[in-house]
Amino acid sequence: MFTDTHCHLFKEYFDDISFVLDKAKENKVNRYINNADNIKTSKEVLELIYKHHMMYGAIGIHPEHVDNYTKEDLDFIEKNLTNKKIVAIGEIGLDYHYTKDNKVKQIELFELQLKLAEKYNKPVIVHSREATKDTIDTLKKYKVKGVIHSFSGSYETACIYTKMGFLLGVNGVITFKNANIKEVYERIPLHNIVLETDSPYLAPVPYRGKKNEPANILVIAEFLSTLYGVSISYLSEVTNENIARIFDI
Ligand code: NI
Repeated sequence: MFTDTHCHLFKEYFDDISFVLDKAKENKVNRYINNADNIKTSKEVLELIYKHHMMYGAIGIHPEHVDNYTKEDLDFIEKNLTNKKIVAIGEIGLDYHYTKDNKVKQIELFELQLKLAEKYNKPVIVHSREATKDTIDTLKKYKVKGVIHSFSGSYETACIYTKMGFLLGVNGVITFKNANIKEVYERIPLHNIVLETDSPYLAPVPYRGKKNEPANILVIAEFLSTLYGVSISYLSEVTNENIARIFDI
């Protein structure tokens, strides 16, 4: 069985989450880490993990919400980190794609949450877009581990992250025709990766452009089993071991 370490399963995207999870289970995907991106979705995560036995949660504030969070929001996150089914702080990080004018504020928000991760010994699920250097420099200031979500950087960057104790999250992007990250992943040992869908985004080929869902982990797994020349069951075994090293699931 596989674990989807990064999905966004919210009412906003899916009318019937139980149905989506049943379908995933038929496709050998039986555990999910549902990632919030703001306070509204963090609250939703906290409700959903009670309804769905095999769903775990990551709560936190994504950099795209850097302009509208409050001190109370961070207190809310802190208060809920002792919940056993909240297995990470996420999705958090730095995103300079649209603007880097607010990078000081972004780094500040990132660091506030990294401090919480350190204090409560929780892993972090990191979003880093066009911000590799600042992400590495910021993470290095804290004793944290976790996952670099949707990693698509160079082999050299991969080595820096894995040496820091981070796993690399691989998703449907690797199946895209123009994806040159295949050559990078080929060189990354399997014990450094975890599988994720980023549902409802980034559906793998042949579903590209459609709404993604955790069942598609199997498509990514099949792609990787060919790339690495290993069986599906071996891939599931190794990636679940990797998850167990980082997450308390
Ligand atoms: Ni995401």
